[in-house]
Amino acid sequence: MSIAVYPGSFDPLTNGHADIAARALPIFDGLVIAVAVNNAKNSLFDVAERVEMIREEFKDNPNIEVESFSGLLVEYLKARKAKAVVRGLRAVSDFEYEFQMANMNRKLYPEAETLFLMTGQRYFYVSSRMVREIASLNGCLNGLVPDHVALRLQKKFGGM
Ligand code: PNS
Repeated sequence: MSIAVYPGSFDPLTNGHADIAARALPIFDGLVIAVAVNNAKNSLFDVAERVEMIREEFKDNPNIEVESFSGLLVEYLKARKAKAVVRGLRAVSDFEYEFQMANMNRKLYPEAETLFLMTGQRYFYVSSRMVREIASLNGCLNGLVPDHVALRLQKKFGGM
């Protein structure tokens, strides 16, 4: 059974992330969406909330598992017996960071490969960072995040 891990901060899940997960699914037998516990990052949602939102989004999809992980991604891959990492690419600006990360992971664990999937055109400009900013300024989140995520964002910023 071929399992891929789709790691990220997902703070919060956007429609762009969901699009990547949907594109990865038919290629693998199973997809694990893995939320990184990154204490250095000042996150808006804690890890449990982020996991909950992703589980809610994919609750009808038995081939998607959602977990959190701490430590190195490559160690998590080994523990899950996964040899593939999925990452989404939007624009050229993503490339340098992704290139560095994929090569570092390859150096640490050459048996695993990183596969890049292109986000659907509708989501080229969508990022969690901008979504957080828009939500904090009470802007419209339609089309950027799933509705249940938009509700959580509004609650976070006292919009309802
Ligand atoms: O959504 P993000 O913030 O771009 O995801 C980055 C993430 C979580 C995939 C990356 O920071 C990561 O893999 N963190 C785990 C720690 C690790 O393995 N660091 C070395 C990667 S080169």
